Amino acid sequence: MTEPLLSVEDLHVSFQTRDGENQAVRGVSFHIDAGETLGIVGESGSGKSVTAKAIMALIAPPGRISSGQITYHGADLLNLSEKEWRKLRGNRISMVFQDPMTSLNPVKRIGDQMTEVIRRHRGLSKGEANEEAAKLLAQVGIPNPRERLAQYPHEFSGGMRQRVMIAMALSCAPELLIADEPTTALDVTIQAQILDLFKQLKADSKTAVALITHDLGVVAQVCTRVIVMYGGLIMEEGSVEDIFYRPQHPYTLGLLRSLPRRGEKSRERLTPIEGSPPDLLNPPSGCPFRDRCPHAFERCTERPPAFDLSPGHHSMCWLAESESLLGKEREESVSSSGAEGGVTHG
Ligand SMILES: Nc1ncnc2c1ncn2[C@@H]1O[C@H](COP(=O)(O)OP(=O)(O)OP(=O)(O)O)[C@@H](O)[C@H]1O
Ligand code: SF4
Ligand SMILES: [Mg+2]
Repeated sequence: MTEPLLSVEDLHVSFQTRDGENQAVRGVSFHIDAGETLGIVGESGSGKSVTAKAIMALIAPPGRISSGQITYHGADLLNLSEKEWRKLRGNRISMVFQDPMTSLNPVKRIGDQMTEVIRRHRGLSKGEANEEAAKLLAQVGIPNPRERLAQYPHEFSGGMRQRVMIAMALSCAPELLIADEPTTALDVTIQAQILDLFKQLKADSKTAVALITHDLGVVAQVCTRVIVMYGGLIMEEGSVEDIFYRPQHPYTLGLLRSLPRRGEKSRERLTPIEGSPPDLLNPPSGCPFRDRCPHAFERCTERPPAFDLSPGHHSMCWLAESESLLGKEREESVSSSGAEGGVTHG
């Protein structure tokens, strides 16, 4: 098996607050392969951004990574020095943040900010970097890119700043791009343009993308695989087909049910499933979805492990246990009948 580009193992992240310890991420494991587009979905507060920031080594006090492992090309990311990180961040691994204003310098022209990044990582001349910056702005749908380069962030709308951030993140052709809600603040036309850009990235398959979003519609359009987060844990993981056509976890089903149907105009954020997410200051010991799950039974007071449903498709729900056992039996019977066939023909 080839080594994944990025691997996250049993990650735990918490924040010390006045009211106690907020256990934002409570044992998350997943991987991203080179060139693939992984969707990370889940309601507000499920731990998506915190997971992304942990990967980028951007968890600072009062937050801490209390345990877990993060590796990139098999090398430990959690114990890199800041100097080593500076070589990776914005170069081989880039991130687009949920709030673009925090990552642009308000007193520097957009062009200078862009060319600085481009020159640092690609060693181009000033003129070449300027050309490249204009090309990138055009690619993310900003009209008159050359004039725009001379302007300051406050002269851009929120959606345009978000697009500038995407352009900057792509400027050094990273191996891994983590995009946190990159299209939420954008109007529908621009959103479509950005999604096309992500599709193009997927087709080129040089850049792996972790796309964090509330919008399952976006995931269906651009992702190959999906993880569904809830209460700081991964509830279900699978290919886009698994998640949309063969969802197993009651939480995934709830998310899918709250999607606007074909033909309906609304492309709003998902309507939350009835009830509210668990209190992460005092997380439940059992299944975190228990209080809202229409199928909850006694066993659910215990936290279920992730059951394998088929290769790459896992669900953290006790209801998946029998299906997973059945699947195993099916596999065993198939492989043993295969062996018998060998004997007969031999
Ligand atoms: N700096 C912080 N201090 C304290 N708690 C934090 C901090 N950052 C995140 N958290 C908590 O961690 C939990 C997970 O937050 P996170 O931002 O990862 O959610 P999310 O899934 O990205 O949600 P959204 O969809 O709203 O962006 C939340 O309970 C949040 O309050
Ligand atoms: S483990 Fe139980 S409570 Fe949790 S999703 Fe499955 S059936 Fe519902
Ligand atoms: Mg977030």
